[in-house]
Amino acid sequence: MKKILASNFKTNHTRASTKGFVEGIDKFVKQEGITNDIFIFPTATSLDCFEISDNISIGVQNAYPVSDGSFTGEIGTAQLDEFGIKTILIGHSERRHILKEPNELIVKKYDFFKSNNYKIIYCIGEPYEVKLEGMESIIEYLFSQLEGIDLTYKNLIVAYEPVWAIGTGKVATVEDINEIHGVLKQKITSPLLYGGSVKTDNIEEILNIDSVDGVLVGSGSWKIENFIEMIKVGAKNVIKR
Ligand code: PGA
Repeated sequence: MKKILASNFKTNHTRASTKGFVEGIDKFVKQEGITNDIFIFPTATSLDCFEISDNISIGVQNAYPVSDGSFTGEIGTAQLDEFGIKTILIGHSERRHILKEPNELIVKKYDFFKSNNYKIIYCIGEPYEVKLEGMESIIEYLFSQLEGIDLTYKNLIVAYEPVWAIGTGKVATVEDINEIHGVLKQKITSPLLYGGSVKTDNIEEILNIDSVDGVLVGSGSWKIENFIEMIKVGAKNVIKR
């Protein structure tokens, strides 16, 4: 299986710079004949109908589990359909912890977007206080975030992103990623990504871990030259299975 490369823009890039980024990545992918699956999650205001290679998907960082209705500030599938968006991030730690999205809503979103056949990148990850308690607590916490989630869904990708590693420059050790991914893989058959301070200078060792099927990258991917560098590394990294 080819390594998956995903870029989460969060609240960065404008409509104009997103267009330049997406077109630039598409040009590179075509030029180099890259066949890895690539995901880009721009802000909702920068979504568009991009004419890009089949292996590049544009996804939405968040949406409400409705087609349309009265949910001020939210968007639903009616708005996403306009741009042919069929990919969504659910359960990202910034939504869980900063925006206080409760687990029931996360599960509701999962079920709704699953029933609409979306590709779902479902994020899980433990906060620092749980990490301090040791491996048993970490696994227990991660498993609790998988409760109510249909892990047999064919369009699911799971991303393990320790909360303390996101946007902090702190990365889980290769040993920890290997161990945690190993345990998760006993439960999950869908691809499993790692996320949390992935940068151009550590992506190679992370992608070299057999149980890592790809990466979900925030800040390290926002400059196009850095994401291109990451795609290059991902393209030469084929899992031996
Ligand atoms: P980061 O974010 O790469 O900036 O740590 C990762 C993420 O939030 O997906």
